[in-house]
Amino acid sequence: MPRAVNGINKRITFLRSPRGLPVPEDFGADETGIPKLAAGQFLSRTLYLSLDPYYRNVMKNSQIYADRLTPGDVMVGETVAEVIDSQHPDFKVGDVVAVRNGWQEYALSNGQGVRKIDPSIAPVSTALGVLGMPGLTGYAGTVFLAQPLPGQTFVVSACTGPVGSTAGQVARHMGARVVGIAGSKEKCDYAVRELGFEACVDYREGDLVGQLKAACPNGIDAYFDNVGGSTLEAVTLNLAMGSRIVLCGMIEAYSMDTPPPGPWLGPIVGARATMKGLVVYDHMNRLPEMTRVIGRWIHDGSFRWKEDIAKGLEQAPAAFCRLMRGQNFGKALVEVGSTKLGR
Ligand SMILES: NC(=O)c1ccc[n+]([C@@H]2O[C@H](COP(=O)([O-])OP(=O)(O)OC[C@H]3O[C@@H](n4cnc5c(N)ncnc54)[C@H](OP(=O)(O)O)[C@@H]3O)[C@@H](O)[C@H]2O)c1
Repeated sequence: MPRAVNGINKRITFLRSPRGLPVPEDFGADETGIPKLAAGQFLSRTLYLSLDPYYRNVMKNSQIYADRLTPGDVMVGETVAEVIDSQHPDFKVGDVVAVRNGWQEYALSNGQGVRKIDPSIAPVSTALGVLGMPGLTGYAGTVFLAQPLPGQTFVVSACTGPVGSTAGQVARHMGARVVGIAGSKEKCDYAVRELGFEACVDYREGDLVGQLKAACPNGIDAYFDNVGGSTLEAVTLNLAMGSRIVLCGMIEAYSMDTPPPGPWLGPIVGARATMKGLVVYDHMNRLPEMTRVIGRWIHDGSFRWKEDIAKGLEQAPAAFCRLMRGQNFGKALVEVGSTKLGR
């Protein structure tokens, strides 16, 4: 039986892109009638609306997201809702679903991308948090990307939020020694006492580099970054050999009107790219192999190289200066003595 509903649907709308941190004036509000069902649709009443940091990027119409907002549109967002009327074969009145209703009390759905929620597992609100998109972010980023080994030090920022607390607790279950980063003593106490983290540092106390050094004396083996910017920088100064960094979120920059100085790492997340450190000396045992492989290509003419040779040792300073200005073309060398070898 469809539930009786009053005739008003309250909505919060997008008004304008915020300048810096969002303010309530960036949003509007209106009321409409409750939308009418058509075949293949269901009507649901919003129970919980998820508030997620990425909405700030949607409000600047960031290209990363499919959502596009023009002034007057209902704000986008995930919700948990109760089906109150249905002409959809798969959804019946009373079902509780995770559905993108946006910031409004009622919405229609054709069922696409909608997930039924089993209230016996946990309170239905968790479908927007630790058992929803943020939880999956923390779980997948830890299990498949950060891959902490037992005993390794795993650091996570914004560590009491749904993403960070999931990442940290998953890492703990994997046997890692988890150190959180959070923005207050209260949050840090919660991380240690409730989430079971080994330690938690409060970046608002200052000297994050030093605090991390003290909490991670053997270095950081895996870092799950939810913040970017200065927090990421402090972590990079405490990395252990062979460490992994998972770039998940950069909330520090979301409310900036222009990207922060330095290379903007947002596209790394968008492209699911991997950055790795390379030091050639770790691969010296490959020198004979490389010489064999490239030597064969040189021999059969399928590999080319170029040299930029200055003649006479006295030319070395000028040649070096040309190299550092990009004026060399090919491997910069100085022919110091004459030789007929190999030429
Ligand atoms: N890559 C993905 O697919 C994906 C998916 C979901 C979420 N995310 C990202 O994951 C991160 C965490 O998301 P969440 O939903 O779990 O949020 P959340 O942790 O509940 O809330 C954001 C937290 O960020 C911290 N923060 C640090 N510096 C900040 C600053 N300059 N301004 C505002 N907050 C700051 C604050 O915690 P402290 O006070 O403890 O620092 C704040 O509570 C976000 O960056 C989000 O965009 C990424």
